[in-house]
Amino acid sequence: MEKKRIAITGGSGKAGKWIIKEMLDHGFDVLNLDWKLPDEPLCDTVIVDLNDLGQVHNALSRYNGRNRKSFDAVIHFAAIPQAYTYANDYIYRNNVMNTYNILEAAANLGINNVVLASSESSYGMVFASPFFSPQYLPVDEQHPQLPEDSYGLSKVVNEVTAEAFHRRTGMQVISLRLGNILEPNDYPRVHESFTKPEDRKVILWSYIDVRDVAAACRLAVDKTGLGAQAIILAADDTSSNLSTAELVQRYLPNIKNNKLPGDGRPALLSNEKAKVLLGWRQQFFLQENVEY
Ligand SMILES: NC(=O)c1ccc[n+]([C@@H]2O[C@H](COP(=O)([O-])OP(=O)(O)OC[C@H]3O[C@@H](n4cnc5c(N)ncnc54)[C@H](O)[C@@H]3O)[C@@H](O)[C@H]2O)c1
Repeated sequence: MEKKRIAITGGSGKAGKWIIKEMLDHGFDVLNLDWKLPDEPLCDTVIVDLNDLGQVHNALSRYNGRNRKSFDAVIHFAAIPQAYTYANDYIYRNNVMNTYNILEAAANLGINNVVLASSESSYGMVFASPFFSPQYLPVDEQHPQLPEDSYGLSKVVNEVTAEAFHRRTGMQVISLRLGNILEPNDYPRVHESFTKPEDRKVILWSYIDVRDVAAACRLAVDKTGLGAQAIILAADDTSSNLSTAELVQRYLPNIKNNKLPGDGRPALLSNEKAKVLLGWRQQFFLQENVEY
């Protein structure tokens, strides 16, 4: 049987390289589209500026013609992954046009399966000044998205763009609202933050191991017919050694509607939809990587 072909954008970045590994380990053919080369080449890379639809179209047509099929899916993780690291308009333009171009080219080439990297930043608290509390807990996919920064805004726009392309072609587009992504070598830094719990308040003490992100991408690519879905992807637990009840009492005292269990360290972001729609389960836990 012919291998499934996957294009991964941003494969030279932090999350991308783990997604490439995951897909290669599961027998997919993988091509990386990025505007820089990876430190460690795991598959072919095409240097592409995703702001340019012509380049995106060309890269995604790589296997077209001569009776060879195009890509089965695109996992789109390329972006400037933070607010205020570049000029606001540049972040917005890059992240929004990259995503529009990926979806436009996929639509034109008959690629019916796309995964997008969205973010918990789309809810707005991460880069808000002053910080504001969620309206209720746990935060789920229905919680209002209220960004004031151009990064969070770009992620909201991208989710809406995904819905438009689903309407246009019927393609499946899964937008993963990712919590704070941790590679194995990030765990010591999180451990250090135990002495300053307020440092991780803006991300609601979320985390998600990059290997669990990669697995979710693979599960999404294996699904069909889910439509355009925004799905939170965060760990079951928090990245703090304090109980969630204590974190909420200390740092989010004004939240009236709190349905989180009173015991333990349940996450403030709900990953229920990822479990139900993707069959995803967390495999990598903070407690296995740091001492409490
Ligand atoms: N890191 C996190 O904690 C986190 C949390 C939530 C969401 N996300 C999202 O996950 C995705 C991956 O994040 P990351 O931390 O791996 O970021 P990263 O910066 O390490 O990787 C992003 C990659 O995208 C590439 N890229 C950016 N713009 C491009 C363009 N115009 N053309 C071609 N390549 C381009 C960069 O070269 C880079 O290799 C991003 O979409 C980010 O917004 C990340």
